[in-house]
Amino acid sequence: MPTVTFRGREIECTEGETLRNVLQRAGLSPHNGKAETFNCKGFASCGTCAVAVDGEVSDVGIREKGRLLVPPHHPNYDLRLSCQTKVMGDVAVEKYPGYWGTKIADGPLPPVDEGDEADDDADPGPSETAAD
Ligand code: FES
Repeated sequence: MPTVTFRGREIECTEGETLRNVLQRAGLSPHNGKAETFNCKGFASCGTCAVAVDGEVSDVGIREKGRLLVPPHHPNYDLRLSCQTKVMGDVAVEKYPGYWGTKIADGPLPPVDEGDEADDDADPGPSETAAD
């Protein structure tokens, strides 16, 4: 049974389960701030569920790849859309600051107990484009 490590928590899941679902089932979120409410609910169009993953996960699909090419995402960020990523083995997950979680230079967010309040004031960034 794979284990997902995220913000100081370890969550067991079923192999092949979607990472976003694993986090939400555990009461965690791959979204920052208002993106928790304003997101595409897992259709790979908003890009707000992006996280860094280290471990065994599914390959990047065409929809995910397309969304990660649209700013503020960038292929060099090496992020994954948690709504499109299947957990295939043990995985360590990190979420970066910003509405889309793309502020890589700021470093990953701290464990959940320390980061929730700080994230509420996160800048929502520019609005999504029609392409999203
Ligand atoms: S929830 Fe919108 S892209 Fe994943």
